[in-house]
Amino acid sequence: MVFTQKQWIVIGCIATFVVVGVVVGVTVGVVVGRRKSDSVAVEQRVNDILAQNPLIDGHNDWAWVIRKYFRNNITGLDLNDMTKYRNITTIHTDITRLRKGQVGGQFWSIYTPCEHQGRDATVSFMEQIDLVNRIIAKEPEAFQLARTAAEVREAFQAKRIASLLGVESGQAIESTFSILRLFYQLGVRYMTLTHNCNTPWADQNRVDRPGSTLPKNEGLTEFGKKIIAEMNRLGMLVDLAHVSKKTMLDVLDVTRSPIIFSHSSAWALCNHSRNVQDDVLRLVKNNRGIVMVAFTPGFITCDSKNLGNISNVAEHINYIRSLVGVDGIGLGGDFDGIDETPYDLVDVSGYPKLIEYLVSQGNWTDEDIIKLAGGNILRVMEENEQIARELQKTMQPLEDMIPIADLIKNNITSCRYLDMYPNAAAA
Ligand SMILES: *[C@@H]1O[C@H](CO)[C@@H](O)[C@H](O)[C@H]1NC(C)=O
Ligand SMILES: *[C@@H]1O[C@H](CO)[C@@H](O)[C@H](O)[C@H]1NC(C)=O
Ligand SMILES: *[C@@H]1O[C@H](CO)[C@@H](O)[C@H](O)[C@H]1NC(C)=O
Ligand SMILES: *[C@@H]1O[C@H](CO)[C@@H](O)[C@H](O)[C@H]1NC(C)=O
Ligand SMILES: *[C@@H]1O[C@H](CO)[C@@H](O)[C@H](O)[C@H]1NC(C)=O
Ligand SMILES: *[C@@H]1O[C@H](CO)[C@@H](O)[C@H](O)[C@H]1NC(C)=O
Repeated sequence: MVFTQKQWIVIGCIATFVVVGVVVGVTVGVVVGRRKSDSVAVEQRVNDILAQNPLIDGHNDWAWVIRKYFRNNITGLDLNDMTKYRNITTIHTDITRLRKGQVGGQFWSIYTPCEHQGRDATVSFMEQIDLVNRIIAKEPEAFQLARTAAEVREAFQAKRIASLLGVESGQAIESTFSILRLFYQLGVRYMTLTHNCNTPWADQNRVDRPGSTLPKNEGLTEFGKKIIAEMNRLGMLVDLAHVSKKTMLDVLDVTRSPIIFSHSSAWALCNHSRNVQDDVLRLVKNNRGIVMVAFTPGFITCDSKNLGNISNVAEHINYIRSLVGVDGIGLGGDFDGIDETPYDLVDVSGYPKLIEYLVSQGNWTDEDIIKLAGGNILRVMEENEQIARELQKTMQPLEDMIPIADLIKNNITSCRYLDMYPNAAAA
């Protein structure tokens, strides 16, 4: 058979088409295949890391949600699956999702609102500690109380979620060292100095908002400095989430031990008063402290119309790492303390996806990830424990009382019987 020139051209075109098609097809197949196997490999790598090293989140308000919606009645409550209460509220936390999220340890937030201050703050915080104790007792296969870094590791070895207590916030102690010490005895291992209200000895973040007319003290007062000293002596971590910038600077000036931010993000990326400014981040590095990055949309995107996603959270993590270093970064999701979450980080099952995202960026080694996930907060706990042991050799428990003038200035004397202030009438 003999082909005409025209026929040869057609045959050539078809052959070229087939060859190009095969090459393109194979290339696309290989690339897609490799991407898929890359992502499977990353998933496996993150799964392995978190199976061997605890991921410890700095702040979760599950206990608060249970107070708010179930009045602390856990008798009939299904702690394994709280998605079934969607008709009441959206809950970010339950045992099933904690397990899926490979959570190895959690600082449970002991929180009640500022309205309790000067009234029944201590009572309400005690109720929340009791609630967490009852949750742990009800689900002993899932949870184990942890008061030291060593106890976190023990719980993790036993495949239980190490349950740590963090008091949010300072109003809980009603300005007395006695309650601070008793909280320590009950297992509380951090105290956030303020929530969104001042205590009579420390100012909160909202005083920093442009145009704020909120009453201000002077950052950390003289009595506040003594509270930091007593926390250092006890080995209770000082948490600077929620405080004003002046309070942050004052604390960093006097603390003997590394501090934490249990749930805050980077001010340079979103200038919210809850976030941490660059000069403070540099001081946190000197202090050997840690910033546990919050996922709160308002702190991450600064845009009420965009809740953000994992990549935005990762930007904050990478930014804070660039200033504090890889030893000073952690995770503090604030689940159940926030009404809205990033689009793709909607509950406590989301941590592995966030870590996979960081790993696939290529500049996080396994060692770095272990530190971010939980190694850094364990190191900070150990340093606080060590410094406390040293301080206790020479320092006695503090017995000072807050000056009555500080209480009066902050309008919180009304429910106090002032027997400890013999000259109160003159004040
Ligand atoms: C607690 O909840 C259970 C089950 O939902 C209910 O039977 C019980 O009466 C409640 N207890 C109190 C004291 O309200
Ligand atoms: C919501 O759903 C739960 C679980 O299905 C049920 O026990 C409860 O009565 C419902 N509550 C309301 C307010 O509808
Ligand atoms: C934060 O940034 C916005 C927009 O850039 C600006 O309008 C606002 O004044 C800034 N707020 C603070 C506290 O600096
Ligand atoms: C996250 O959101 C940003 C901006 O909305 C978008 O550009 C980016 O592709 C999103 N990333 C992911 C992983 O969804
Ligand atoms: C890691 O890589 C990402 C993407 O290339 C970059 O945005 C980020 O700044 C890097 N982080 C660090 C700590 O170098
Ligand atoms: C105390 O109460 C007075 C009178 O109501 C008010 O003007 C003042 O701002 C209050 N101070 C604080 C610190 O709340």
